[in-house]
Amino acid sequence: MFLTPDEEKIFDGESGEAKKIAIRLLYSLGELGNAEKLIPIKSAHVSGVSYKNIGDGGLKFLKKISTPVSVPTTLNPLGFDLTGDGPVNIDEHFREKQLEIIRAYMDMGVMESFTCTPYYFYNEPSFGDHLSWAESSAITYVNSIIGARTNRESGPSALAAAIIGKTPDHGMHMENNRKAKLIIKTNRKLEYSELGALGLYIGYNGKGQIPLIKGQKGAKDFEIKALAAAMGAASSSPMFHVEGVTPEAHLVADDASVLDVEEDQIKETMNKYAGDETPELISIGCPHLSVEELNYIASLVHGKKKIGPDLFLFTNRKVKERAAGAVKVIEDFGGKVFVDTCMVVSPLSNRYQKSATNSGKASFYLPLKEYGNQKIAFKGILEMLKWVIA
Ligand code: F3S
Repeated sequence: MFLTPDEEKIFDGESGEAKKIAIRLLYSLGELGNAEKLIPIKSAHVSGVSYKNIGDGGLKFLKKISTPVSVPTTLNPLGFDLTGDGPVNIDEHFREKQLEIIRAYMDMGVMESFTCTPYYFYNEPSFGDHLSWAESSAITYVNSIIGARTNRESGPSALAAAIIGKTPDHGMHMENNRKAKLIIKTNRKLEYSELGALGLYIGYNGKGQIPLIKGQKGAKDFEIKALAAAMGAASSSPMFHVEGVTPEAHLVADDASVLDVEEDQIKETMNKYAGDETPELISIGCPHLSVEELNYIASLVHGKKKIGPDLFLFTNRKVKERAAGAVKVIEDFGGKVFVDTCMVVSPLSNRYQKSATNSGKASFYLPLKEYGNQKIAFKGILEMLKWVIA
Protein backbone atom coordinates (compact mmCIF):
# COMPACT_ATOMS: atom_id res chain seq x y z
CA MET A 1 0.00 0.00 0.00
CA PHE A 2 1.27 3.46 -0.91
CA LEU A 3 1.79 5.98 1.91
CA THR A 4 2.26 9.71 1.32
CA PRO A 5 5.44 11.33 2.72
CA ASP A 6 3.43 12.68 5.70
CA GLU A 7 1.95 9.25 6.38
CA GLU A 8 5.44 7.73 6.15
CA LYS A 9 6.59 10.08 8.91
CA ILE A 10 3.71 9.00 11.15
CA PHE A 11 4.53 5.38 10.30
CA ASP A 12 8.14 5.97 11.41
CA GLY A 13 7.01 7.36 14.75
CA GLU A 14 7.74 11.06 14.14
CA SER A 15 4.26 11.98 15.46
CA GLY A 16 4.48 9.83 18.56
CA GLU A 17 3.91 6.25 19.61
CA ALA A 18 0.09 6.31 19.62
CA LYS A 19 -0.16 7.56 16.02
CA LYS A 20 2.53 5.10 14.98
CA ILE A 21 0.48 2.22 16.40
CA ALA A 22 -2.68 3.58 14.73
CA ILE A 23 -1.23 4.00 11.23
CA ARG A 24 0.57 0.66 11.38
CA LEU A 25 -2.71 -1.04 12.26
CA LEU A 26 -4.40 0.67 9.29
CA TYR A 27 -1.47 -0.20 7.04
CA SER A 28 -1.72 -3.90 7.94
CA LEU A 29 -5.46 -3.92 7.29
CA GLY A 30 -4.91 -2.12 3.98
CA GLU A 31 -2.32 -4.68 2.91
CA LEU A 32 -4.70 -7.52 3.82
CA GLY A 33 -7.52 -5.90 1.84
CA ASN A 34 -5.29 -5.04 -1.16
CA ALA A 35 -5.88 -1.31 -0.68
CA GLU A 36 -3.65 1.02 -2.67
CA LYS A 37 -3.92 4.00 -0.35
CA LEU A 38 -5.53 5.55 2.69
CA ILE A 39 -8.53 7.83 2.09
CA PRO A 40 -9.94 10.56 4.36
CA ILE A 41 -13.01 9.73 6.45
CA LYS A 42 -15.82 12.03 7.63
CA SER A 43 -16.41 10.28 10.96
CA ALA A 44 -15.73 7.22 13.08
CA HIS A 45 -17.86 5.16 15.43
CA VAL A 46 -16.09 3.03 18.01
CA SER A 47 -17.36 -0.14 19.71
CA GLY A 48 -15.70 -2.04 22.53
CA VAL A 49 -16.80 0.15 25.41
CA SER A 50 -18.37 -2.12 28.00
CA TYR A 51 -15.91 -3.57 30.52
CA LYS A 52 -17.97 -6.76 30.13
CA ASN A 53 -16.76 -6.96 26.50
CA ILE A 54 -13.21 -5.59 26.45
CA GLY A 55 -11.90 -6.39 29.95
CA ASP A 56 -8.46 -5.35 31.21
CA GLY A 57 -6.75 -6.14 27.88
CA GLY A 58 -8.94 -3.60 26.07
CA LEU A 59 -8.31 -0.95 28.71
CA LYS A 60 -4.57 -1.47 28.40
CA PHE A 61 -4.78 -1.02 24.60
CA LEU A 62 -6.77 2.22 25.02
CA LYS A 63 -4.12 3.68 27.30
CA LYS A 64 -1.39 2.73 24.85
CA ILE A 65 -3.09 4.34 21.86
CA SER A 66 -4.24 7.46 23.73
CA THR A 67 -3.99 10.59 21.54
CA PRO A 68 -6.70 12.98 20.26
CA VAL A 69 -8.98 11.77 17.47
CA SER A 70 -8.97 13.90 14.33
CA VAL A 71 -12.55 13.38 13.06
CA PRO A 72 -15.95 13.39 14.84
CA THR A 73 -16.03 10.09 16.71
CA THR A 74 -18.94 8.52 18.57
CA LEU A 75 -18.95 5.70 21.08
CA ASN A 76 -21.08 2.56 21.55
CA PRO A 77 -23.02 1.76 24.76
CA LEU A 78 -21.28 0.80 28.00
CA GLY A 79 -22.18 -1.52 30.88
CA PHE A 80 -24.57 0.76 32.82
CA ASP A 81 -26.58 3.97 32.64
CA LEU A 82 -24.23 6.81 33.62
CA THR A 83 -27.15 9.19 34.19
CA GLY A 84 -28.80 7.05 36.87
CA ASP A 85 -28.83 3.55 38.24
CA GLY A 86 -29.30 0.35 36.36
CA PRO A 87 -30.38 -1.53 34.47
CA VAL A 88 -28.99 -3.98 37.09
CA ASN A 89 -26.72 -3.71 40.11
CA ILE A 90 -23.04 -3.94 39.34
CA ASP A 91 -20.12 -4.50 41.64
CA GLU A 92 -17.65 -1.73 42.53
CA HIS A 93 -14.82 -3.34 40.55
CA PHE A 94 -16.93 -3.34 37.35
CA ARG A 95 -18.01 0.28 37.94
CA GLU A 96 -14.46 1.51 38.50
CA LYS A 97 -13.06 -0.29 35.47
CA GLN A 98 -15.95 0.93 33.30
CA LEU A 99 -15.35 4.54 34.37
CA GLU A 100 -11.65 4.16 33.62
CA ILE A 101 -12.51 3.02 30.08
CA ILE A 102 -14.83 6.00 29.60
CA ARG A 103 -12.15 8.43 30.86
CA ALA A 104 -9.66 6.94 28.39
CA TYR A 105 -12.05 7.60 25.48
CA MET A 106 -12.96 11.08 26.73
CA ASP A 107 -9.25 11.98 26.97
CA MET A 108 -9.05 11.25 23.25
CA GLY A 109 -11.93 13.63 22.46
CA VAL A 110 -14.47 10.93 21.63
CA MET A 111 -18.10 12.10 22.00
CA GLU A 112 -20.20 11.07 25.01
CA SER A 113 -22.77 9.39 22.78
CA PHE A 114 -22.82 5.87 24.26
CA THR A 115 -25.18 4.55 21.62
CA CYS A 116 -25.34 2.12 18.72
CA THR A 117 -27.69 4.51 16.88
CA PRO A 118 -25.35 7.54 16.68
CA TYR A 119 -26.97 8.34 13.33
CA TYR A 120 -29.87 9.76 15.37
CA PHE A 121 -28.58 13.24 16.32
CA TYR A 122 -24.87 12.62 17.12
CA ASN A 123 -23.08 11.50 13.99
CA GLU A 124 -25.26 11.79 10.89
CA PRO A 125 -23.52 10.60 7.70
CA SER A 126 -24.69 11.47 4.19
CA PHE A 127 -24.85 9.39 1.03
CA GLY A 128 -21.37 8.61 -0.32
CA ASP A 129 -19.46 9.67 2.83
CA HIS A 130 -16.44 7.50 3.62
CA LEU A 131 -16.48 6.40 7.27
CA SER A 132 -14.76 4.03 9.62
CA TRP A 133 -17.46 2.58 11.81
CA ALA A 134 -17.54 -0.39 14.17
CA GLU A 135 -20.72 -1.98 15.62
CA SER A 136 -22.34 -4.39 13.17
CA SER A 137 -25.88 -2.94 13.36
CA ALA A 138 -24.70 0.64 12.83
CA ILE A 139 -22.36 -0.39 9.99
CA THR A 140 -25.16 -2.24 8.22
CA TYR A 141 -27.54 0.69 8.78
CA VAL A 142 -25.29 3.44 7.39
CA ASN A 143 -24.10 1.38 4.42
CA SER A 144 -27.57 0.10 3.50
CA ILE A 145 -30.05 2.80 4.48
CA ILE A 146 -27.95 5.96 4.10
CA GLY A 147 -25.57 4.81 1.36
CA ALA A 148 -22.49 5.94 3.29
CA ARG A 149 -19.40 3.74 2.97
CA THR A 150 -17.69 1.79 5.71
CA ASN A 151 -16.11 -1.60 6.07
CA ARG A 152 -16.97 -3.76 9.07
CA GLU A 153 -14.42 -2.26 11.39
CA SER A 154 -13.49 -3.52 14.82
CA GLY A 155 -13.29 -1.18 17.82
CA PRO A 156 -9.47 -0.87 17.53
CA SER A 157 -9.44 -0.30 13.74
CA ALA A 158 -12.20 2.34 13.94
CA LEU A 159 -10.28 4.07 16.73
CA ALA A 160 -7.04 3.95 14.72
CA ALA A 161 -8.88 5.50 11.74
CA ALA A 162 -10.37 8.17 14.03
CA ILE A 163 -6.86 9.09 15.20
CA ILE A 164 -5.34 9.25 11.70
CA GLY A 165 -8.53 10.58 10.03
CA LYS A 166 -8.15 8.01 7.25
CA THR A 167 -8.98 4.42 6.40
CA PRO A 168 -7.66 1.93 3.79
CA ASP A 169 -9.44 2.27 0.45
CA HIS A 170 -10.92 -1.17 -0.17
CA GLY A 171 -14.06 -3.25 0.33
CA MET A 172 -17.22 -1.21 0.87
CA HIS A 173 -15.45 2.04 -0.07
CA MET A 174 -15.51 0.93 -3.73
CA GLU A 175 -18.81 0.91 -5.60
CA ASN A 176 -18.07 -2.31 -7.42
CA ASN A 177 -17.94 -4.23 -4.13
CA ARG A 178 -21.36 -2.95 -3.05
CA LYS A 179 -23.31 -4.99 -5.60
CA ALA A 180 -25.88 -7.54 -4.44
CA LYS A 181 -24.79 -11.11 -5.14
CA LEU A 182 -27.94 -12.70 -3.73
CA ILE A 183 -31.56 -11.81 -4.50
CA ILE A 184 -33.94 -12.58 -1.64
CA LYS A 185 -37.59 -12.88 -2.66
CA THR A 186 -40.25 -12.51 0.04
CA ASN A 187 -43.95 -12.93 -0.71
CA ARG A 188 -45.56 -10.53 1.76
CA LYS A 189 -44.67 -7.38 3.65
CA LEU A 190 -43.09 -8.38 6.99
CA GLU A 191 -43.51 -6.47 10.25
CA TYR A 192 -40.80 -5.29 12.65
CA SER A 193 -39.83 -8.52 14.46
CA GLU A 194 -40.38 -10.62 11.35
CA LEU A 195 -37.82 -8.41 9.58
CA GLY A 196 -35.45 -9.21 12.46
CA ALA A 197 -36.14 -12.90 11.80
CA LEU A 198 -35.49 -12.34 8.08
CA GLY A 199 -32.16 -10.73 9.01
CA LEU A 200 -31.21 -13.81 11.05
CA TYR A 201 -32.37 -16.14 8.27
CA ILE A 202 -30.27 -14.31 5.67
CA GLY A 203 -27.37 -14.32 8.12
CA TYR A 204 -27.57 -18.11 8.50
CA ASN A 205 -28.22 -18.89 4.82
CA GLY A 206 -26.79 -16.03 2.78
CA LYS A 207 -23.13 -17.12 2.87
CA GLY A 208 -22.03 -13.63 3.85
CA GLN A 209 -23.08 -12.19 0.48
CA ILE A 210 -24.70 -8.78 0.03
CA PRO A 211 -28.42 -9.42 -0.58
CA LEU A 212 -31.04 -7.45 -2.49
CA ILE A 213 -34.34 -8.02 -0.67
CA LYS A 214 -37.47 -7.89 -2.79
CA GLY A 215 -41.05 -7.62 -1.54
CA GLN A 216 -40.53 -5.15 1.32
CA LYS A 217 -41.41 -1.84 -0.38
CA GLY A 218 -42.77 0.65 2.14
CA ALA A 219 -40.76 -0.77 5.06
CA LYS A 220 -40.15 1.99 7.60
CA ASP A 221 -36.74 3.17 8.80
CA PHE A 222 -37.03 1.47 12.20
CA GLU A 223 -38.13 -1.81 10.60
CA ILE A 224 -35.11 -1.80 8.31
CA LYS A 225 -32.97 -0.98 11.37
CA ALA A 226 -34.20 -4.23 13.00
CA LEU A 227 -33.26 -6.14 9.85
CA ALA A 228 -29.82 -4.49 9.81
CA ALA A 229 -29.13 -5.41 13.44
CA ALA A 230 -30.19 -9.05 13.09
CA MET A 231 -28.36 -9.61 9.80
CA GLY A 232 -25.27 -7.83 11.14
CA ALA A 233 -25.24 -10.20 14.14
CA ALA A 234 -25.62 -13.43 12.18
CA SER A 235 -23.64 -12.58 9.04
CA SER A 236 -20.33 -11.08 8.03
CA SER A 237 -22.03 -9.13 5.24
CA PRO A 238 -21.65 -5.37 5.80
CA MET A 239 -24.80 -4.29 3.97
CA PHE A 240 -27.97 -5.17 2.08
CA HIS A 241 -30.26 -3.51 -0.42
CA VAL A 242 -34.05 -3.38 -0.21
CA GLU A 243 -35.90 -2.83 -3.46
CA GLY A 244 -37.82 0.45 -3.42
CA VAL A 245 -36.35 1.47 -0.05
CA THR A 246 -32.55 1.76 0.06
CA PRO A 247 -30.60 4.15 -2.20
CA GLU A 248 -28.30 1.68 -3.99
CA ALA A 249 -30.80 -1.10 -4.73
CA HIS A 250 -29.85 -0.81 -8.42
CA LEU A 251 -26.38 -2.27 -7.66
CA VAL A 252 -26.82 -5.95 -8.54
CA ALA A 253 -24.16 -8.34 -9.87
CA ASP A 254 -24.96 -10.00 -13.23
CA ASP A 255 -24.44 -13.45 -11.71
CA ALA A 256 -26.54 -12.88 -8.55
CA SER A 257 -28.27 -16.04 -7.31
CA VAL A 258 -31.86 -16.18 -6.01
CA LEU A 259 -33.18 -17.37 -2.64
CA ASP A 260 -36.93 -17.56 -1.95
CA VAL A 261 -37.83 -16.98 1.69
CA GLU A 262 -41.25 -18.38 2.53
CA GLU A 263 -43.58 -17.68 5.42
CA ASP A 264 -42.56 -20.96 7.12
CA GLN A 265 -38.90 -20.02 7.19
CA ILE A 266 -39.66 -16.74 8.97
CA LYS A 267 -41.85 -18.61 11.47
CA GLU A 268 -39.21 -21.29 12.03
CA THR A 269 -36.55 -18.65 12.67
CA MET A 270 -38.75 -16.91 15.23
CA ASN A 271 -39.71 -20.24 16.80
CA LYS A 272 -36.06 -21.13 17.27
CA TYR A 273 -35.94 -18.44 19.97
CA ALA A 274 -39.65 -18.49 20.88
CA GLY A 275 -39.38 -19.63 24.53
CA ASP A 276 -42.74 -20.44 26.15
CA GLU A 277 -41.98 -19.48 29.73
CA THR A 278 -43.17 -16.18 31.17
CA PRO A 279 -40.11 -13.91 31.19
CA GLU A 280 -38.75 -12.04 34.19
CA LEU A 281 -37.91 -9.10 31.96
CA ILE A 282 -39.09 -7.59 28.68
CA SER A 283 -36.32 -5.66 26.90
CA ILE A 284 -36.93 -3.39 23.93
CA GLY A 285 -34.29 -1.26 22.23
CA CYS A 286 -31.70 -3.36 20.42
CA PRO A 287 -30.63 -1.31 18.48
CA HIS A 288 -31.36 1.77 20.62
CA LEU A 289 -34.85 3.15 20.09
CA SER A 290 -35.73 6.18 17.95
CA VAL A 291 -38.17 8.95 18.94
CA GLU A 292 -40.76 7.34 16.64
CA GLU A 293 -40.43 3.95 18.35
CA LEU A 294 -40.70 5.46 21.85
CA ASN A 295 -43.83 7.37 20.79
CA TYR A 296 -45.32 4.14 19.43
CA ILE A 297 -44.65 2.17 22.63
CA ALA A 298 -46.02 5.06 24.74
CA SER A 299 -49.23 4.98 22.69
CA LEU A 300 -49.64 1.28 23.54
CA VAL A 301 -49.25 1.63 27.33
CA HIS A 302 -50.82 5.08 27.81
CA GLY A 303 -53.16 5.09 30.83
CA LYS A 304 -52.85 1.29 31.29
CA LYS A 305 -52.03 -0.57 34.51
CA LYS A 306 -48.80 -2.55 34.63
CA ILE A 307 -48.56 -6.12 35.87
CA GLY A 308 -46.03 -8.94 35.55
CA PRO A 309 -42.40 -8.81 34.40
CA ASP A 310 -40.14 -5.74 34.40
CA LEU A 311 -40.19 -3.64 31.24
CA PHE A 312 -36.89 -2.03 30.18
CA LEU A 313 -36.39 0.20 27.15
CA PHE A 314 -33.00 1.32 25.83
CA THR A 315 -32.14 4.43 23.84
CA ASN A 316 -29.62 7.28 23.73
CA ARG A 317 -29.62 10.53 25.68
CA LYS A 318 -30.66 12.83 22.82
CA VAL A 319 -33.53 10.58 21.75
CA LYS A 320 -34.70 10.35 25.38
CA GLU A 321 -34.66 14.15 25.65
CA ARG A 322 -36.60 14.63 22.43
CA ALA A 323 -39.15 11.97 23.34
CA ALA A 324 -39.64 13.28 26.90
CA GLY A 325 -43.46 13.06 26.66
CA ALA A 326 -43.37 9.42 25.58
CA VAL A 327 -40.78 8.59 28.24
CA LYS A 328 -43.06 10.05 30.93
CA VAL A 329 -46.00 7.96 29.72
CA ILE A 330 -43.87 4.79 29.75
CA GLU A 331 -42.47 5.57 33.22
CA ASP A 332 -45.94 6.43 34.59
CA PHE A 333 -47.02 3.01 33.32
CA GLY A 334 -44.16 1.37 35.24
CA GLY A 335 -41.56 0.80 32.52
CA LYS A 336 -37.99 2.11 32.72
CA VAL A 337 -36.12 3.92 29.95
CA PHE A 338 -32.33 3.60 30.14
CA VAL A 339 -29.63 5.42 28.18
CA ASP A 340 -25.90 4.76 27.64
CA THR A 341 -26.26 0.97 27.88
CA CYS A 342 -28.23 -1.94 26.48
CA MET A 343 -29.63 -5.37 27.25
CA VAL A 344 -26.59 -7.11 25.75
CA VAL A 345 -23.60 -5.09 27.01
CA SER A 346 -24.91 -4.59 30.57
CA PRO A 347 -24.49 -7.54 32.94
CA LEU A 348 -28.22 -8.33 32.83
CA SER A 349 -27.70 -11.89 34.04
CA ASN A 350 -26.68 -10.46 37.45
CA ARG A 351 -30.44 -10.32 38.01
CA TYR A 352 -32.40 -11.89 35.14
CA GLN A 353 -32.27 -15.34 33.56
CA LYS A 354 -35.40 -15.24 31.38
CA SER A 355 -35.88 -12.34 28.94
CA ALA A 356 -38.31 -11.52 26.18
CA THR A 357 -37.28 -9.20 23.36
CA ASN A 358 -38.47 -8.14 19.93
CA SER A 359 -34.87 -7.94 18.71
CA GLY A 360 -33.39 -10.56 16.41
CA LYS A 361 -29.91 -9.39 17.36
CA ALA A 362 -30.50 -9.63 21.12
CA SER A 363 -32.14 -13.05 20.61
CA PHE A 364 -28.96 -14.14 18.89
CA TYR A 365 -26.57 -12.91 21.61
CA LEU A 366 -28.37 -13.27 24.95
CA PRO A 367 -28.56 -17.10 24.98
CA LEU A 368 -24.77 -17.33 24.45
CA LYS A 369 -22.66 -18.36 27.43
CA GLU A 370 -20.57 -15.18 27.41
CA TYR A 371 -23.76 -13.10 27.49
CA GLY A 372 -25.24 -14.91 30.50
CA ASN A 373 -27.09 -17.93 29.06
CA GLN A 374 -30.43 -16.13 29.01
CA LYS A 375 -33.57 -18.09 28.19
CA ILE A 376 -35.03 -16.00 25.40
CA ALA A 377 -38.52 -15.34 24.06
CA PHE A 378 -38.29 -13.59 20.67
CA LYS A 379 -41.69 -12.00 20.01
CA GLY A 380 -43.37 -8.95 18.51
CA ILE A 381 -43.96 -5.87 20.70
CA LEU A 382 -47.74 -6.34 20.89
CA GLU A 383 -47.34 -9.96 21.94
CA MET A 384 -44.78 -9.09 24.64
CA LEU A 385 -46.88 -6.26 26.04
CA LYS A 386 -49.67 -8.74 26.79
CA TRP A 387 -47.46 -9.91 29.69
CA VAL A 388 -47.37 -6.47 31.29
CA ILE A 389 -50.70 -4.78 30.50
CA ALA A 390 -53.50 -5.64 32.98
FE1 F3S B 1 -27.04 -1.80 20.22
FE2 F3S B 1 -26.59 -3.27 22.29
FE3 F3S B 1 -28.13 -4.14 20.36
S1 F3S B 1 -25.11 -2.05 21.26
S2 F3S B 1 -27.39 -3.18 18.52
S3 F3S B 1 -28.53 -2.40 21.69
S4 F3S B 1 -26.53 -5.27 21.35
